[in-house]
Amino acid sequence: MTGQADSVYVAGHQGMVGSALVRALQRRGYSQLITRPRAELDLLDQRAVAEFLASERPKHVFVAAARVGGIQANNELRADFLYENLQIAANLIQGAHLAGIQHLTYFASNCIYPRDCAQPMAESALLTGPLEPTNEPYAIAKIAGLKLCESHQRQHGRNYVSVMPASLYGPNDNYTPGQSHVLPALLRRAHEARQRGDAELVVWGSGTPRREFLYVDDCAEACLMLAERAYDGPPLNIGSGTDLSIRELAEAVCETVGFSGRLVFDASKPDGMPRKLLDSSRLLATGWRPTVTLRDGLRRAYEVAPWR
Ligand SMILES: NC(=O)c1ccc[n+]([C@@H]2O[C@H](COP(=O)([O-])OP(=O)(O)OC[C@H]3O[C@@H](n4cnc5c(N)ncnc54)[C@H](OP(=O)(O)O)[C@@H]3O)[C@@H](O)[C@H]2O)c1
Repeated sequence: MTGQADSVYVAGHQGMVGSALVRALQRRGYSQLITRPRAELDLLDQRAVAEFLASERPKHVFVAAARVGGIQANNELRADFLYENLQIAANLIQGAHLAGIQHLTYFASNCIYPRDCAQPMAESALLTGPLEPTNEPYAIAKIAGLKLCESHQRQHGRNYVSVMPASLYGPNDNYTPGQSHVLPALLRRAHEARQRGDAELVVWGSGTPRREFLYVDDCAEACLMLAERAYDGPPLNIGSGTDLSIRELAEAVCETVGFSGRLVFDASKPDGMPRKLLDSSRLLATGWRPTVTLRDGLRRAYEVAPWR
């Protein structure tokens, strides 16, 4: 993207990442934003996607559409997560190439690194070991999308860049019980526990796994900065650089919503990877820095949560 007059298509614009990209683009004055709700364009439909991209020919495509969910949904709906994410990535990336679109940003994820990856996880650790079994299908699809971008870079000289953000949170997060990630799930459940006057809040797992969180608007700003500089290098991590335990997260969430009961850890539920901290030094070398602290981000996310 070289200027605000460029047309930009955000796939998945109603999702958490897509809507943050739209906010960031609007803040910067981009006037030619292209979006399509799922009812008008099903991204699983290869022909429809190819025709749409060929007729719109945006200057830049952001692939922020995906089938996304927490540990339970990933573990149970394994075929859906693998198939839909492969298909969405293939339709948009290949469709963009066939339409002659030169610039694309693909959202991979921090879950594509090996389960026992050295921490913090550098980009070079990709495909160096077995994946976390609970989200392996999702991770395989995301790795395939990343490799499709990389292959178009090498075979056709396309500027198709993959980013691996840390766990994101913020406006338009998915709060559906059984589908959500740990942070939004805790935020909602702590709020409901306070409303009911519960004495305790049950948290899945042992509370010891460590996770890194990034406010979604910080992630969107990083991606726009890369797109505006026409970054055309290898995949890049996007993280805040600090992690905390699930217990510490639960405590911060309880403080945000004003729940003062006891935390109980249900160790019969899976923990997932023991630690997930990205090495974002390559991105940080560009000068980008996250601007929203976890406490501030939790407060902002809570203020606009749709179930309040
Ligand atoms: N959330 C995180 O913590 C996180 C962390 C790292 C990376 N990422 C990556 O960021 C990307 C976006 O994640 P997100 O959290 O923003 O997910 P999200 O809130 O669930 O948004 C996904 C969007 O994709 C759309 N979509 C899914 N299937 C579609 C289809 N067949 N046709 C049309 N639209 C479809 C959804 O449309 P509907 O609104 O109609 O459902 C939704 O708007 C994903 O690739 C994810 O891997 C996310």
